[in-house]
Amino acid sequence: MSGLLWQKPGVAVDAQIQRFLAGDDVILDREFFLHDIAASRAHAEGLQRIGMLGADELEGLRRELAHLAEDFRSGTFVLDGRYEDGHSAIEARLTERLGDAGRKIHTGRSRNDQVLVATRLWLKEKLARVASLSREIAGVALDRAQAERHLPMPGYTHIQRAVVSSAGMWWAGWAEAFIDDAVRAADTFALIDCNPLGTAAGYGVNLRLDRDHTTAALGFSRLQVSPVYAQLSRGKFELAALEALGSATLDLRRLAWDLSLFTSAEFGFVALPAQYTTGSSIMPNKRNPDVIELMRATHASVAAARTEIEQLLSLPSGYHRDLQASKGAIFHGFGRGLAALELLPALLANLEWREERLRAAIDSGMYATDVAVDAAIAGVPFRDAYRAAAASSDSAGQGRTPEGSLAARTSPGAAVDLRLDVLRERLARAS
Ligand code: ARG
Repeated sequence: MSGLLWQKPGVAVDAQIQRFLAGDDVILDREFFLHDIAASRAHAEGLQRIGMLGADELEGLRRELAHLAEDFRSGTFVLDGRYEDGHSAIEARLTERLGDAGRKIHTGRSRNDQVLVATRLWLKEKLARVASLSREIAGVALDRAQAERHLPMPGYTHIQRAVVSSAGMWWAGWAEAFIDDAVRAADTFALIDCNPLGTAAGYGVNLRLDRDHTTAALGFSRLQVSPVYAQLSRGKFELAALEALGSATLDLRRLAWDLSLFTSAEFGFVALPAQYTTGSSIMPNKRNPDVIELMRATHASVAAARTEIEQLLSLPSGYHRDLQASKGAIFHGFGRGLAALELLPALLANLEWREERLRAAIDSGMYATDVAVDAAIAGVPFRDAYRAAAASSDSAGQGRTPEGSLAARTSPGAAVDLRLDVLRERLARAS
């Protein structure tokens, strides 16, 4: 590694210690290198606006930052262990290409606000993706709820058959869950959508930086005001983003659990398209729902990332190098979380119910609650009606049909009318 920005003359650096300090930091910085470059451009523009750079210097910086971005995208420029981190690499490249203008780019900024601004820009993109995927998932679930609202299936409590339910009711449940997740991601996006650039190392700088310009140029909706809070919020806003993602992956975990049960021979409710299954190396008969299982496992990575960051935040105010460790956690958590959510819309759109199995799983005992409630409507005190239905158990529901049971509970005007129109409207507002 060469050219440490902070190296003092005459003080040797120890290679092993440097390796420990660097860790995989520069490799992680690849993830938001383009955001760091974009923020460097906005910072340079701000410096020119307050007279700290000439117009020609700004032009050179803009040009070389654009070249660096292009070279990084094409692989001509590789961000690697030659540099301490991505921030140093930008300055080194600008200095190499432009001389003094490159040496001026760091005027009034610190790597502490540089990393913050890059992280916020990166997370805004990821949260927008969580929101749009959650909306897409909810949209598929709503369409299927509409199409399958009359398809009976057992409703379970304790994984024991309880009452007659429908595929429509099941889908509508996931639709509402993912609408909530979309709203949560959008709310968290708004929380994170503020510009820390200009707060420098955490205490501002003796320059009249044009923070309004960098805020607008980078597409932030507001300025992060307090430089002390800019640092205090590091880790905390990453945690908030992971919580929003975790809200979706937690739903995904439970949905995957349902599908894992439903695809087993014991339930046999769902047939998964073959591409979502794998085989066994030894058991020729197997078709395993590995995709669903890895989807279910995803929340573990998100929760682990949250825990890691929460543990890091046992710190006094101000910048601490500990905070660097939050980067790997968010990259890993969002990498796994989004990869799983991205597969979900098509998986849900393509899964097939096996209607005969759904119907066969509905037994006459599952009408007992309907029978008791009907007796209560006829004037029998509910507890007496309940006992009578329990005593006659299986025979009580005779003559009843899944359709009749569903109609009484989920049709327009009933207590749990699916009200897909309400969900649709909420989904439209979440966009
Ligand atoms: N890689 C560092 C991080 O993520 C960049 C900031 C370094 N600042 C410092 N004062 N050493 O936190």
